[in-house]
Formats: sequence, C-alpha cells, structure tokens
Amino acid sequence: MSEIKSMKLYTNVERVYRELGEMGKTVDEPLSVDELCAFDQLHYHGTQALDVAMALIGVDAQPRWLEIGSGLGGPARYLAAYGDIHVTALELQVDQHEVARSLTTRCALDTQVDHVCGDFLAFDGAPGSFDAIVSWLALYHIPERPRLLENCYRLLAPGGCFYTEDLTARGDIDDAQLKLLERDLYAITLRRIDQYRQDMENAGFVVELCKSMSSEWAEFVRVRLAAYRADRGRHLRVHGEAAVNALNDFYSAVNRHFQSGKLGGLRLCARKPGVAV
Ligand SMILES: C[S@@+](CC[C@H](N)C(=O)[O-])C[C@H]1O[C@@H](n2cnc3c(N)ncnc32)[C@H](O)[C@@H]1O
Repeated sequence: MSEIKSMKLYTNVERVYRELGEMGKTVDEPLSVDELCAFDQLHYHGTQALDVAMALIGVDAQPRWLEIGSGLGGPARYLAAYGDIHVTALELQVDQHEVARSLTTRCALDTQVDHVCGDFLAFDGAPGSFDAIVSWLALYHIPERPRLLENCYRLLAPGGCFYTEDLTARGDIDDAQLKLLERDLYAITLRRIDQYRQDMENAGFVVELCKSMSSEWAEFVRVRLAAYRADRGRHLRVHGEAAVNALNDFYSAVNRHFQSGKLGGLRLCARKPGVAV
C-alpha cells in the first residue's frame, strides 16, 4: 500500500516559504489571509469554492466549524477571517500541520483557528460539538467511509451541516488504474457519486445538494498544468529543479486521471436532522 507522501503535492512543503520570500516577506513577518491565498489552497478554484460553502451553510448562526484534512490551513484561515467563525483545523501530516500553524499565527488568527494534528478516524470530540463539518479534497484519502460518516454524524449538532468537495470514481475502474490512483493521488476511497449520496443517507444525513464537478475540474486541472509548464523558468528560479519536477509530475498525473474519464468529483451538502438549539 502507498504512503501519503507518494502523492507529490505533499512533498516540499517549504514551497510556501519560498513564495513568501519571492514576495519580499521576511521570516516571521505578519501576513494577511489574502496574501497567502494564491498558494495555500490545495483544492480546485481556491477561495471561490469556500465562498460557495459559506453561502450554502450560512455563517451567522454557525460559529463552530471542523475542517477535516486542513492541509496548509488556507481554507480554515479564509473561513475564519471572512465568515467570522471558529474553525478546528484537523490535519494528518505533521509537516503540513506545523506550516499551517505558523502561518495562522502570522495572520493573527490563532484565537479563531485551532490547529489539531491527527487522523480524523481517531478524532474524539464531544458529541454535537460542531455546527458544520467541512472538507475539501481530503475524504477520498481516508479508509472506512461508514466509520468516517458515523463520526461526522456524532460530532455534528442537530441541524448541523456537512459539506464536502471530494474526488469520485466515474464508472468502474480496473485494478491497474486504481493502483496508479493510489500512488499518484493517495486515493483510498473512491466512490461513484450515486454511492456517495447513498453512503450519506445510510449514515442518517439528509442530502440537500449533490452536484457533479467532474467536467469543471477536468478543465481546471488541464489549465493548471498548462499554466505551470508555461511558467517553468520562473518556478525553477524560485523552487529549484527537484521541487518543480515533483509538482509538475503531480499536476500531470492528476490531469491524466481526469482526462481518462475515470476520475471525477462532487460538491455535496447534507444536514443532520433536528433543530439547532
Ligand atoms: C488535498 S489536501 C487539501 C487541504 C485543504 N483542505 C485545502 O483544500 O487546502 C488533503 C489533506 O487531507 C489530509 N488528510 C488525509 N487523511 C487524513 C485523515 N485521516 N485525517 C486528517 N487529515 C487527513 C492530508 O494530509 C492533506 O493535507
């Protein structure tokens, strides 16, 4: 079985500090959320995707959010700053978690974003302690979907919202491609959209939105790869050959899997039945 670091997006986490250096920022200099947005969002369509989530979930009466798989902390900081909510940002990988925490401190958001390092399947918060659970491109990494959803249901308050943007399978995928998907994207749980919805309903959620993002994301990853290649000279100067080759490999592999027609994605919003108190 692959390790999560077989996915080359997760190597060279210091890329973010090189980008800050390129902007003329000294180490430990204060930062704003907007300055980081171009390189701390590890999902598709950056902060636009977060605006969609905030509009669907609503932020006025939803103060306690959990993000599963928070990466470098980009979504959590943006949600805290623009939604004025409290976010628990749970991240598995220690290096991503440490970078996320230091960036959040530099943005002076540490009272609104709590960074926690760990595996969601072992996350043991109090029942009903979150008004919303959100996740961008992380749940497909995690095994045991029924257990994952059971824990989400338990952690949400009645009436609470579950929102995800996640990768999905399109049709049947043969073993050879599944192996490549695991190596290139650390894809552990790839469900078709109809199965994803059924899994949510089986766990007790009421699905309010379940939308295929497959075509939009196939186009997004195609354009992202072309843009990265076109700017290779600049990237080599800032990051060096090993880091650039790693990210180029990753963007190429993702593009190949999407264009094969076997990899897709969804945006899903569901609610735990009951009335918020
Ligand atoms: C593609 S990144 C997205 C990060 C962030 N959501 C964003 O959009 O910028 C997915 C993240 O999920 C994390 N992850 C994977 N499995 C996890 C688990 N079992 N518990 C917590 N985090 C996990 C990975 O380490 C990775 O940083």
